[in-house]
Amino acid sequence: MLKKILKVVGIILGVLVLLVAGFYTKVYFSVKERMNKVYAVTPQEITVDATDSVLIATGQRYVRSKGCKDCHGDDLGGKVFIDDPALGLLIARNLTKGEGGLPDDYDTRDWVLALKHGIRRDGKPLLFMPSHEYAQLTEWDMKALIAYCSQLPKIDRELPQSDVGPLGKILTDLGKLPLLPAEMIDHNKTLVKEIKAEATAAYGKYLATACQGCHRENMKGGEPVAPGFPPVADISASGNPGKWTAEQFMETLRTGKTPEGKTLKQEEMPWSMTKAYTDVELRALHLYLNTL
Ligand code: HEC
Ligand code: HEC
Repeated sequence: MLKKILKVVGIILGVLVLLVAGFYTKVYFSVKERMNKVYAVTPQEITVDATDSVLIATGQRYVRSKGCKDCHGDDLGGKVFIDDPALGLLIARNLTKGEGGLPDDYDTRDWVLALKHGIRRDGKPLLFMPSHEYAQLTEWDMKALIAYCSQLPKIDRELPQSDVGPLGKILTDLGKLPLLPAEMIDHNKTLVKEIKAEATAAYGKYLATACQGCHRENMKGGEPVAPGFPPVADISASGNPGKWTAEQFMETLRTGKTPEGKTLKQEEMPWSMTKAYTDVELRALHLYLNTL
């Protein structure tokens, strides 16, 4: 009797192992194919005056306020920003022209390809680089980033290649991880020239692109962005920020401490990024969130 039961259990386990292996093989090849796809995209032609001091100064503020430093490191010389055996090893590139960084002839066209299209020079998609958000920047804001970034002091830092782990591939296959932003971008869209930086809901809506990746398009938050992270808060009018004054909102996004006494962890809610926002930017965001 026992032998019979063991045999049945053995068969069931065997079938399960085969099913799991089959599922993973399918995921493995399909995600690999998406990672190796070559995109035929002609980037929008943009000219950047790399000596314009207003552009450079704005770009210098943006590399903090648009989150570049959170992934590429404080000196933009690149860093490992996810190192997890299941998710994978994700390296944000050295953005300077030192050893291990961008090639010497990396030009405005390459910058636009990366920021607006999420694509590398060889036509393959960049991994996990949130270009689907930067693709919505105005032309002027993108120029500011390029003007500043293309004159960074050289930093020599060789980093290993990114490698997506099994869980990373499965989550990508299930649409739960934005590994391939190039797939989410309308590559034919041209950038809006400029948006007036003033305390209006319209400007706030533009800035809120930076919050969408986690707080969702309706800003009502929801499931954690990745395993091990907390659920994302509702920051629309129905959430806590709807009850705050503009001053409390600004204070929270600059100190990570909410009026309710909660301390937001920088790694979970990137307030080192929002800390660099101007009063006008934060007021605009608060106005916009309160319209939702
Ligand atoms: C969520 C993390 C993250 C943020 C935020 C981020 N990057 Fe990246 N970026 C990456 C990763 C990861 C790569 C490498 C992708 C790869 O190797 O496939 C990358 C690659 C790049 C590249 C390399 C392109 C190439 O041709 O190899 C450029 C340029 C770049 N990022 C610029 C920026 C700028 C400018 C910002 C801010 C406006 C920024 N990144 C914000 C993660 C990030
Ligand atoms: C990388 C993901 C991520 C991004 C990007 C992000 N947030 Fe958050 N945010 C979170 C998470 C997660 C929480 C909840 C943290 C917790 O519960 O400890 C949170 C909480 C908050 C809170 C506190 C809400 C409360 O009820 O206490 C505010 C306010 C907030 N975010 C505003 C913003 C704004 C504005 C932006 C865009 C400029 C933004 N966040 C971008 C992940 C993010």
